[in-house]
Amino acid sequence: MSYKDYLKLIDDIRYHDRLYYVLHKPILNDEAYDALFQKLLEVEKEHPEWVVSSSPSQRIGELPSKGFAEVKHGSAMLSIANTYSQEEITDFWGRMQKVAPVDAVFAELKMDGIAVSVTYKEGSFFQAATRGDGIHGDDITANCSMIASLPLKIVGAPPLLVLRGEVYMPHDSFKALNHERELAGEDIFANPRNAAAGSLKLLSPLLVANRHLAVIFYGLIENKAVDYQHEVPEYLASLGLPAMPDYKLCKNVEDIMAFAEKVHKQRAQLPFDIDGIVIKVDRLSLHDEIGYTGRCPRFAIAYKFQAASAETIIKAITLQIGRTGVITPVAELEPVLLAGSTIARATLHNEEEIARKDMRVGDYVLIQKGGDVIPKIVEVIKEKRSVNSLAWKMVLHCPSCGELLLKDEEGVAVRCPNSKKCPAQQLERLSFFVSKDAMDIENLGVKVMEQLFLKGLVKHFSDIYTLDREKLSTLSGFKEKSILNLLAAIEKSRKASLSRLILALGIRHVGASTAAELASLTGSLEAFRKMQKEDFRGIEGVGEVVAHSLASFLNDPDNQAELDLLIINGVEPLQKAPARTDHLFSGKSFVLTGAMERYSRSEASELIEDRGGRVGDSVSKKTDYLVVGTEPGSKFAKAQKLRIRILTEPEFLQLL
Ligand code: IVH
Repeated sequence: MSYKDYLKLIDDIRYHDRLYYVLHKPILNDEAYDALFQKLLEVEKEHPEWVVSSSPSQRIGELPSKGFAEVKHGSAMLSIANTYSQEEITDFWGRMQKVAPVDAVFAELKMDGIAVSVTYKEGSFFQAATRGDGIHGDDITANCSMIASLPLKIVGAPPLLVLRGEVYMPHDSFKALNHERELAGEDIFANPRNAAAGSLKLLSPLLVANRHLAVIFYGLIENKAVDYQHEVPEYLASLGLPAMPDYKLCKNVEDIMAFAEKVHKQRAQLPFDIDGIVIKVDRLSLHDEIGYTGRCPRFAIAYKFQAASAETIIKAITLQIGRTGVITPVAELEPVLLAGSTIARATLHNEEEIARKDMRVGDYVLIQKGGDVIPKIVEVIKEKRSVNSLAWKMVLHCPSCGELLLKDEEGVAVRCPNSKKCPAQQLERLSFFVSKDAMDIENLGVKVMEQLFLKGLVKHFSDIYTLDREKLSTLSGFKEKSILNLLAAIEKSRKASLSRLILALGIRHVGASTAAELASLTGSLEAFRKMQKEDFRGIEGVGEVVAHSLASFLNDPDNQAELDLLIINGVEPLQKAPARTDHLFSGKSFVLTGAMERYSRSEASELIEDRGGRVGDSVSKKTDYLVVGTEPGSKFAKAQKLRIRILTEPEFLQLL
């Protein structure tokens, strides 16, 4: 080994020390690390003249071998049987009746944090330990002494008080911490639980203080103070200890389910993460009688809510070209079940986002469903990364047409500027034109449109209206019946509403509500086509950017020629009767969230607009009604906060 290699070895070890001690994300296992260290010691023995004072070997005495001292739990820290099924809760209840005279169970929140055992001696905080393997844990007394909600002294406690509870990171602390880390260019934590675990592992208690952790206790070991689990929260609170904020004494399975449902509904509003409820036999004297199976008590069960995050692998990163030319990288994932649905793709947003999180093909990643339906990658598990992996790079040319890509005005998105000729953009625009929200041509899905486009039968919107029996018969899978159905659907769309047509044109920044506003203002395609930039000013929801986009669309001779062809080919957008003014909805502003059973979003919007109402995209103080379907998004919470009138689907139908 040369002197240069020796210095390199020191650097390597420092790098791994940092990963282990500072970032808590080691990539080497203990043996591999020990081997490196052993090599260092050997070299230094052979070449004492090389040894530098900053060599890791020189401070070996200071490095804690494992970071924390070991603690043996006086009474094992058990884990608990989990279930996601209501049936198994019914089974649990039945089992309990059989083994003991159980007339009540206690249900409380299942905190999603890190289990701790905390001991007070003579009223003073004495020790805190992690669960570890259940028998031995890490001594985290110093770190826990930094948790503000953990009292260092309590009055009225027995000489020895051993508590079980959970250290967690409240949402506020979590947000602030990740924000700080992001600014500092550090990796952010995927969720409050990981953040709490990472914080408890810090070797400097002063750093822990900055993490603003909290603790809640739910159990008493060998206590003489209470006879029932339901007395625990009150007893703990009387000692000034943080106790479970929500619980219920349940006399039957219905009580348990009602509590679970209530908690599940309130989950998003809680200031901390929970992952379900825990159900325990209420009479404590029965616990030992009922007994244990392996490492789990038989007298308790956790009823968990579906996990909202899962681990999977990025198989490939593909590029999606939108109808406005924006190129979006997409992660093709190893399919994984997440909160009840199988996820195989996740958007990666843009190049910067990929670089910031350093996401690579082959990486193991944690995906999560937030308030919205689209899953996102929240963390790259770098420990599992292959040494051969390469950083991802954005291509320079459009994968569809080969045009040099440009950065968007905002400097984040990458766009293919070849908007008229880029095949991918053309196809996306055509697919949007016929989609349910736009011209709503049934039986003309993405796959059929792709065939029509590739065969050269449809290149422009107006070509759709030249399709006939003969052309359609060349499509694979198209027989007499399907041809007739499609022709009928195309025929019907000739009379689509003006707002649908304006939306279908795919003008940048013009969404459904702007299109509806323009249609009701102009009343006809002829009038719309003649509008100038000045005319757009002062229209509700039309700012400078939208006005500019509309004007440049209408000033483009190709677009005007296309509108001519649409008219020549028989497209005659329906002029709607002026909106009513006598309906309950007239003049009122609506926002829709979630999926309705009876109507699509655009159908519901149309119904509202026909009655003189307006449909906006986001909830504000000016919103009169929020119509909620199933799986509502974040708008629901916002509307509740602003105390906006909420209509369920049946209520909406009735008011219609
Ligand atoms: S009781 C004797 N109650 O869930 C049963 N555990 O596997 C011991 N947890 O690591 C657990 N909230 O840290 C119980 N209200 C609660 C809980 C709870 C969270 C954690 C606990 C343990 C895991 C159970």
